[in-house]
Amino acid sequence: METSSHDILIIGGGGAGLRAAIEIAELDPKVDVAMVSKVYPMRSHTVSAEGGAAGVAGKDDSVDEHCYDTISGSDWLGDQDAIEFFCNEIPKELLRLEHWGCPWSREPDGRIAVRPFGGMKKMRTWFAADKTGFHLLHTLFQTSLKYATIARYDETFATRLLVEDGAVRGVVAIELRTGKIRAIQAKAVIIATGGCGRVFPFTTNANICTGDGMALAYRAGAPLKDMEMVQYHPTGLPFTGILITEAARAEGGWLLNKDGYRFLQDYDLGKPTPTPVLRSMELGPRDRVSQAIFGEFEKGRAFHGPYGDYVHLDLRHLGEHKIETRLPMVRELCLKYENIDPVREPIPIRPVQHYMMGGVHTDINARTSLNGLLAAGEAACVSINGANRLGSNSLGEILVFGARAGRSAIETVRASGSGNETAILAQARDEERRLEENFLHKTGGAERIAKLRDEMQRAMESGCGIYRERNSLVASANKLRELRERAANLAIDDHTRTFNTQLTAALELGYMLDVAEAIVHSALDREESRGAHQRRDFPKRDDQKYLAHSVAHQAAEGPPRIEYHPVVITRWPPGERVYGR
Ligand code: FUM
Repeated sequence: METSSHDILIIGGGGAGLRAAIEIAELDPKVDVAMVSKVYPMRSHTVSAEGGAAGVAGKDDSVDEHCYDTISGSDWLGDQDAIEFFCNEIPKELLRLEHWGCPWSREPDGRIAVRPFGGMKKMRTWFAADKTGFHLLHTLFQTSLKYATIARYDETFATRLLVEDGAVRGVVAIELRTGKIRAIQAKAVIIATGGCGRVFPFTTNANICTGDGMALAYRAGAPLKDMEMVQYHPTGLPFTGILITEAARAEGGWLLNKDGYRFLQDYDLGKPTPTPVLRSMELGPRDRVSQAIFGEFEKGRAFHGPYGDYVHLDLRHLGEHKIETRLPMVRELCLKYENIDPVREPIPIRPVQHYMMGGVHTDINARTSLNGLLAAGEAACVSINGANRLGSNSLGEILVFGARAGRSAIETVRASGSGNETAILAQARDEERRLEENFLHKTGGAERIAKLRDEMQRAMESGCGIYRERNSLVASANKLRELRERAANLAIDDHTRTFNTQLTAALELGYMLDVAEAIVHSALDREESRGAHQRRDFPKRDDQKYLAHSVAHQAAEGPPRIEYHPVVITRWPPGERVYGR
């Protein structure tokens, strides 16, 4: 087995991972940092973010207002110390990106342009047309190339964290080009692997978003927090789930039901006005807008299509010039994937899974409960997003907490002694044996990856989607248990080593089943409705019992053990979430 070692290892090559690597390289050029990514970094899912990144920009805005919008948006489940830190830091991060070359869109007089975004009462979302993720990732990647101390293991798939005496000491990973299994040792490991949208059948997430880092941490003993908080984005394309950015509504787009009626006015989100009003109608928060679209489905006021019900997003009144300059990618996506031109036709859309508010439980410094393990970005739950993230807060989160994870990792390295290498490498060899016995040398299993994945996705959507209740959640939990048993009888046909995508798909399925179980059991346990977690059998928010984070620990056998941790409330006591008024 090949072995190598570094001071710090980052798993994930997207925005959070790159930002962490740059922070480390800038702060201490003597620290040796490496990134392991299952794809080439520019193919990470950050690339597909569209609408922008929120940060106070104008004199009419304030950090306190950004905090309040984020806290009320989170339905008071976000930790207020973390949110305040985030809102203070993000304008500096966005400006830093400008200095590193990010081509932010501008006003005619040269100032940075900002656009409104859902649930925000000020215009504070910085953007680069509707390709913000592409430009942000490109800026971070090219900046990272300046530093010789950042090593990369591209197209390398992490399969297990190495834990010795309660401290994380590296990973086992497969080099996908050769199939070689490596032990990569480190004094600190940062998980920055993004979300797990592929647990659901309709998602804006790329195929690579399979919860790898969440599951690696969970298996190693670091719990997952607030996993029941699953965000549905109101406007995905019905079949592919491809994101039609919220910026389309920020620029003035309307949501219409099959009768051409702006139905959001029926859902306590305000009344239609000639020009968009902040925090109102189509600029409401994502949880409420997605729930309203679902309400139209249930009332029979939606269109029926081969992939389920949908409504319309109408941009025609914006005109070709605005669509071409502010929303060029929306037009391109609609032409390529739906064969319609939004300049002339409304866009069919439905809510699709988009983001996990939950993730690996960390403190405000990105530290998990395991020594030497840190997490940042969507894979982590700090928590700044609580029960509902506001659109355009996640690009900021990967920057602020990516940098923070980098700093904390340096402190960990400075405080860390040397581990017991013999014990660490013995663990790595165990993992190599597992991969060979269970997958590379195994023949004859009766189950197929695609079938199990498909059944898991259906169980998640039907039992644990926008609305949940005890019976639906129990059915999903039972299905997941059955799938886990059947997964033990899985065998792959491809036993070669080079780019063995069947092997990675089988390992990803295992990660997804673990994460799905944490989602369903956390949802079953929380008997209230808050933000994105809507229980039909418990329709009210219950601050007495559940103003608390759920924290799921993987059990040796059976369902996860769920405990609750208090929410940090500093200056903003829980209140009613009011929009459109
Ligand atoms: O709609 C969007 O552009 C998504 C933004 C976000 O999730 O922050």
